[in-house]
Amino acid sequence: MKFSHKIIETNATLLLVLSFVVVSIGGIVEIAPLFYLQNTIEKVEGMRPYSPLELAGRNIYVREGCYVCHSQMIRPFRDEVERYGPYSLAAESMYDHPFQWGSKRTGPDLARVGGRYSDKWHTDHLSDPRSVVPESVMPSYAFLKQTTLRTDDIAAHLKANRMVGVPYSDEMIKNAKADLLAQVDPDGDGAQALLKRYPKAQIRDFDGNPAKLSEMDALIAYLQMLGTLVDFSAYKAEENLR
Ligand code: HEC
Repeated sequence: MKFSHKIIETNATLLLVLSFVVVSIGGIVEIAPLFYLQNTIEKVEGMRPYSPLELAGRNIYVREGCYVCHSQMIRPFRDEVERYGPYSLAAESMYDHPFQWGSKRTGPDLARVGGRYSDKWHTDHLSDPRSVVPESVMPSYAFLKQTTLRTDDIAAHLKANRMVGVPYSDEMIKNAKADLLAQVDPDGDGAQALLKRYPKAQIRDFDGNPAKLSEMDALIAYLQMLGTLVDFSAYKAEENLR
């Protein structure tokens, strides 16, 4: 035994070849099963693709670089769970292309900010962060309320997401614009169809100005949805954390 090991240790090429073999076995054992799994993300009740208005809001979130200061990933540590709520599940970002986990928290994590504040608070805060949080270093995004939301390309956005794996149906794509408009029109007739396609979609005017469909409406619709789709009261994992 001792002798044969000496052969390996004194022969650099042999050592290299055998090391490579050992490392390859380790690699294959870890990687090969992934090719046989249908899905590496466990399906979670309640998760659905973004409604067209939420998706438009998410696009604004990405465009404005909110991820530069905000993460959307609550880690399974006690301090984070106590501050932000149940830790993020992989499935909660399964329809995010690209994902918005982020790597910097100049501001708080936003993964569960939905429902935490009123729409009015968000409008005030995004327009003038210092008006509600005096010590805030967040920039102002007041122009979003003045900017009309572009709606003519929303079906194309759904299609693009479908190409990378989000299960938008033909029906969803066909009705994308109607669904987008229905979400800011609580008195319209599109609400039922919207809710059928996108359960739990919140239907109302978001920016305090029903006369105008602004980028602020879309962004707040997105923020108010974040973290609200999965019902954690049904989750055992939550009990261990509380
Ligand atoms: C320069 C860094 C920076 C950028 C960029 C930024 N924020 Fe913030 N954000 C902060 C900071 C700091 C806070 C905490 C103070 C406050 O509430 O204003 C905050 C707070 C928030 C909050 C309140 C969160 C909570 O739980 O209290 C929301 C919502 C929010 N930001 C959304 C956004 C959105 C949407 C964008 C992009 C349009 C954005 N932020 C861009 C720094 C930033």
